[in-house]
Amino acid sequence: MAIKNIWHSLAQDRCPCIHQFKTAFFLLLTLTFLLLAVAYASDFTLDTITFPKTWFTKIMNQTHYKVNDSIWADHNQKDTLAHLPNQQIQQRGSTISYHIAHPSNYHYILDEPDKCQQSPFLVLMVPVAPHQVEARNAIRSTWGNESTVQGNAVMTLFLVGLTGGSDSEKAQQQLEEESRQHRDLLQSNFVDSYYNLTIKTMVIMDWLATRCPQASFSMKVDSDMYLNLENLVTLLLAPNTPRQNYITGMVMWNRPVIRDTNSKWYVSEESYPEPIYPTYLLGMGYVFSNDLPEKIVEASKEIKPFNIEDAYVGACVKHLGFAPSSPPDPSQFRAYLGQYKREDFLRVITTILGSPQQLIDIWKDLKRPT
Ligand SMILES: *[C@@H]1O[C@H](CO)[C@@H](O)[C@H](O)[C@H]1NC(C)=O
Ligand SMILES: *[C@@H]1O[C@H](CO)[C@@H](O)[C@H](O)[C@H]1NC(C)=O
Ligand SMILES: *[C@@H]1O[C@H](CO)[C@@H](O)[C@H](O)[C@H]1NC(C)=O
Ligand SMILES: *[C@@H]1O[C@H](CO)[C@@H](O)[C@H](O)[C@H]1NC(C)=O
Repeated sequence: MAIKNIWHSLAQDRCPCIHQFKTAFFLLLTLTFLLLAVAYASDFTLDTITFPKTWFTKIMNQTHYKVNDSIWADHNQKDTLAHLPNQQIQQRGSTISYHIAHPSNYHYILDEPDKCQQSPFLVLMVPVAPHQVEARNAIRSTWGNESTVQGNAVMTLFLVGLTGGSDSEKAQQQLEEESRQHRDLLQSNFVDSYYNLTIKTMVIMDWLATRCPQASFSMKVDSDMYLNLENLVTLLLAPNTPRQNYITGMVMWNRPVIRDTNSKWYVSEESYPEPIYPTYLLGMGYVFSNDLPEKIVEASKEIKPFNIEDAYVGACVKHLGFAPSSPPDPSQFRAYLGQYKREDFLRVITTILGSPQQLIDIWKDLKRPT
């Protein structure tokens, strides 16, 4: 209305320069619109791309995507997983089945094949690096030491890959000693590295599928996590919790694939072409009905591997035709709880901690009589 009135008054004006004025006015108008559009678009970009990206990085920083940068700095190694075809290939004289992350390529050096004879209700599978004995011991003296929860058998096992470095032989001996002492170590013959977490997760799935199919539920839980088993078992026993095709944790929706080659989480278009990951559960800790490991290992034959283990499991789940579930109370799966508050830790199921000592300290405080 206002613009129309201006035109009207301009038309009334019999100035001979009216034509140039009209053009100038139009230009001004167009320019304003363009500026507005650009401002709007950049604002929009900031909101929808930059913000979640930094948020994502922050969360990932606190999870297990923080191990050893030297692997990522090596661009030659970066593509080991990426360029392998999704077929049978020959490598150093041995046959790789399906692809490098498929567990059929590996075998157990340390195994506990009879661990599940008692048909546990819940099996906690902890991927950990061979040298992280302090983290294992902290777990053994806290949540890993709970064998029955609300009358249900619970079990904790650790999975490591090959020991590396110059003192690899000595490290292996120590590991075997630790295994004799605790009978809770599994070791597979893949190179244990941050980049190989997808292999580690698939070997965990294989162990559950082949050594422990009688368990009701399993959880993949990282070694720097706090775990409240009372709350977890309550969730699993709830009548609404499905016994099949069920996987829950901290749900990640519409996470963009990181294409920045400098990023730790870089994934090439070749290994994962789509720009957005399927819905998946943050790798820090996800729990699933124990029919899934076998199905995931089977689905994995069809899914080209990439180095983001949790998103890869999401891709396998999508291939199986269902989606991860939101937990009844999503705030129980927390990446970060901030300053220690006893009541928070009594309420959650899992959250990331800063150190093995912190787990021990928090546990002590939680178990103190009140
Ligand atoms: C993530 O961690 C690195 C160091 O490991 C740090 O430089 C970076 O600022 C962190 N990013 C966020 C978003 O916290
Ligand atoms: C990372 O790994 C390399 C060998 O792969 C090792 O020399 C280095 O000390 C490690 N760095 C950290 C921070 O663990
Ligand atoms: C596990 O708990 C039992 C008591 O239930 C205790 O005797 C044992 O020392 C604990 N183990 C560890 C490694 O803390
Ligand atoms: C991942 O593991 C495979 C199998 O052991 C190995 O060939 C490869 O070098 C490893 N990659 C990295 C980056 O550690």
